Amino acid sequence: MINNRVSIIGCGNIGISLLQGLLKQQIIPAKNITATRRNIEELTHLKESGVRLMSDNIEAIKESDLIIIAVKPYNIVGVLQELKDHLNPGKHLLISVTAGVTISKIQDVVGTRVPVFRAMPNISASVGKSVTCICHNGAKPKELESVKFLFDMIGITMTIDEDLMESATILGACGVAYVLRFIRAMIQGGIQIGFDAATASVIVNQTVKGAAELLIERHQHPEFEIDKVTTPKGCTIVGLNEMEHNGFSSSLIKGLVASFEKIEK
Ligand SMILES: NC(=O)c1ccc[n+]([C@@H]2O[C@H](COP(=O)([O-])OP(=O)(O)OC[C@H]3O[C@@H](n4cnc5c(N)ncnc54)[C@H](OP(=O)(O)O)[C@@H]3O)[C@@H](O)[C@H]2O)c1
Repeated sequence: MINNRVSIIGCGNIGISLLQGLLKQQIIPAKNITATRRNIEELTHLKESGVRLMSDNIEAIKESDLIIIAVKPYNIVGVLQELKDHLNPGKHLLISVTAGVTISKIQDVVGTRVPVFRAMPNISASVGKSVTCICHNGAKPKELESVKFLFDMIGITMTIDEDLMESATILGACGVAYVLRFIRAMIQGGIQIGFDAATASVIVNQTVKGAAELLIERHQHPEFEIDKVTTPKGCTIVGLNEMEHNGFSSSLIKGLVASFEKIEK
């Protein structure tokens, strides 16, 4: 796998995040990674990295084994049509991170000669902390292993049924934005009670990281840990209940479901 070459077709927000995560790991040499987009000058900042940069998608996949398609849904069919006659069975694995486009839609364009995967990472890939949900329809164990190996480099990987991919997009990929908005609100609250923005950010970021680590390491339900912080008649429970009276959990769940309904359309 270490010698496998990767191309990222459509290196925008998520493509760059994946690229940065892979470069950070240094398992795949930079020269074995190719990044494409049409406005290639937008990738100039990556020149020093040693990554192959080009706007020619066909040329990019010639030197690749794992092909990550990271374009928007409205661009994917055009890209697949461009690539389909250049896909090499036995060599290429096609992985789409494009939201909402099924494996069967992809295979309608490229056929079934090359294994097709869908993967849903998030932008924390850039710091090696993504959770990536993967699905396939009948890939060989070795092929799945290669794809998992790739995404394990930039975080943790889970294999799920394809009919949960949209849910994975909302919870795992959009989820980063929900958490960041929560963090922003915490920082604003921190400023109101006396901290400057920089200090509040440090305190909040570490608090959020620590709370997540607590759950990850101890495999606990959040409420179990919340009980340890909420002294009867104390300030934490007063604050939490006030948040709930104002719709904290409800608004989060409603927002998540609204995102899901939008992606389902
Ligand atoms: N952003 C996230 O957090 C995230 C996470 C997981 C999955 N996704 C999914 O990944 C997909 C991309 O999202 P994004 O946020 O990364 O979008 P984005 O920033 O717009 O990136 C897409 C890139 O594709 C390039 N592109 C378009 N047509 C191309 C073509 N024919 N050949 C080569 N490159 C082409 C665009 O650059 P040029 O215009 O220069 O070609 C653009 O940089 C979406 O379906 C999204 O749902 C996103």
